[in-house]
Amino acid sequence: MIVNDAVLHNEWIVACRAQDLQEKPMQVLIMGERVVLFRTGEGVHAFKDLCVHRGAALSQGCVKEGKLVCAYHAWEFDASGACASIPQLPKEQAIPTKARAITYGCEERYGFIWVNLGQADAPWFPFPEYGAGGWRNVVWGPQTVAAKPPRIVENFLDVGHLAIVHEGYLGVETHTEIGDYRVHRVPEGIRSEEIAIFQPDPDGSGQAKHVYYTYEIARPLTVKFTKRDNETDHLMSIVLTVQPKDADTSVAYGVLSFNYDPGLTDEEITSFQDMIFAQDKPVVENQKPEDLPLDLQVELSLKCDRVSIAYRQYLKELGVVWGTA
Ligand code: FES
Ligand SMILES: [Fe+2]
Repeated sequence: MIVNDAVLHNEWIVACRAQDLQEKPMQVLIMGERVVLFRTGEGVHAFKDLCVHRGAALSQGCVKEGKLVCAYHAWEFDASGACASIPQLPKEQAIPTKARAITYGCEERYGFIWVNLGQADAPWFPFPEYGAGGWRNVVWGPQTVAAKPPRIVENFLDVGHLAIVHEGYLGVETHTEIGDYRVHRVPEGIRSEEIAIFQPDPDGSGQAKHVYYTYEIARPLTVKFTKRDNETDHLMSIVLTVQPKDADTSVAYGVLSFNYDPGLTDEEITSFQDMIFAQDKPVVENQKPEDLPLDLQVELSLKCDRVSIAYRQYLKELGVVWGTA
């Protein structure tokens, strides 16, 4: 099922980790659309996963000399989508110009492959930590979730649940109160002021203390928080980005960035994040309605939900319909 979402149609949507796309073409589902990703010497490419000849899935084919070869009758498509060879035609006969694959925007960036179904030159969200000196970046995911992306994103932006759902890890039951904070429009999107959160062991020293969270909304399905330790000036940020896969399923990915050495392997970092996410998942998969209500009267918000409120207003302003009500 394909939901018509004119906004997300023109967004960069995460398709897979960069390392997942190797020699073999692969199929991903983006908003119900079957997309084939493939890699050539020129870079990464995304087509509609449908051969114009007889509707075969191009992802069953292979890449040969920079061209995607259909598994059914071996028509070859170059990176621009044009058909370069039809083995069944006599050599001298021209290839019909209609023999083309439908191409999508495709880029490798921030450790992922991204697809844009509508606008290949759409703007990118800024991610200054990625590739910058002094920062370590660890790619996290995929995590498949039986929920719509806005519920998953909002859970990530939700400060009030840290001491409840992640008690003992990201919060402490004796410190559930959230101090007041504001949310501002900034050129990059929306940003909260710092929010103090009391954590049991934020820097691995075994010492419980306050850390300071800043939430940012960069794009409809891409958000971030930064956690600051004001004793050490250590910063840790997590970018979350969600792929709307089909009507009921989403896939979450992230990048964890550190401006210090957390003393952990990549594997330990992603395992911890998996464990935290596993605490959120049953909550998010059982929220009703599944579609995030953009009418602020529908659920009961508190002051501390300002980031979530800003997110709902932002989706409403943009006109995102996938996973919203
Ligand atoms: S279906 Fe792809 S070449 Fe025939
Ligand atoms: Fe959480």
